[in-house]
Amino acid sequence: MATEALYEKDGHGFYWLGKDESGNEEGVQANQYLIVEKGQGLLIDPGGFGVFSRVLVNLSHLIDPSDIRNIFLCHQDPDVGGSLASWFEMTPAVVHVSELWIRFLIHYGVDDIKRFRGIPDAGGSLVLPGGGRIEFVPAHFLHSPGNFHLFDHTSGILFTGDIGAAVYPQGQTPMFVENFEDHVRYMEAFHGRYIPTNKVIRRWLDHARKLPVRMIAPQHGSIFREESAGKFFDWIGNIPCGIDVMNG
Ligand SMILES: [Fe+2]
Ligand SMILES: [Fe+2]
Repeated sequence: MATEALYEKDGHGFYWLGKDESGNEEGVQANQYLIVEKGQGLLIDPGGFGVFSRVLVNLSHLIDPSDIRNIFLCHQDPDVGGSLASWFEMTPAVVHVSELWIRFLIHYGVDDIKRFRGIPDAGGSLVLPGGGRIEFVPAHFLHSPGNFHLFDHTSGILFTGDIGAAVYPQGQTPMFVENFEDHVRYMEAFHGRYIPTNKVIRRWLDHARKLPVRMIAPQHGSIFREESAGKFFDWIGNIPCGIDVMNG
């Protein structure tokens, strides 16, 4: 399964860019996504250096890399943007990321600082060539201090970065959450340790719950469709995490 259309209608598509089938990719399993509207692309969390060739091959079935005009990084981590220098060479895209991280991202070997578009803490938006609206939703401290989610108003898909991450044994990650109650056990450890306190979750939920979300697409693990998306919001609103539970 190279790619999967999560939404495709009237010249607007939201695609999942596949996963490693070879077992050669190192590190935590990560999802990459692509929005295409009127032939122009927005690449979401392209990933680390080790996944670059697989992501490039898969997305080339959907779009010419030279038509990727925007790249979104939800935060500064290497599994989010470690491949940035290669994407700078392959595409003319500008990069949308929290303004906190631009001077750090230079360390990924990118040289053209003019291609960064810093997102202020309050958030931002982007209009695609067909008029589709993209919203950068503040999600600070979830887990990074400068962190955004991406909401695609056309498809109703909310990309949540590390929020909703699930870590399955290698090769066993289902594409969609089928049984939410079973799925919880693969999410608990990450959320309990990487999020500093439940207070930041509640602040984010106040905003996220007002969006017309039809699907939640995280950077790791499985995608939440209608019913499981609602269950996810309920679950995460009540988990203890970080300093709420850390001893010593
Ligand atoms: Fe992260
Ligand atoms: Fe991540």
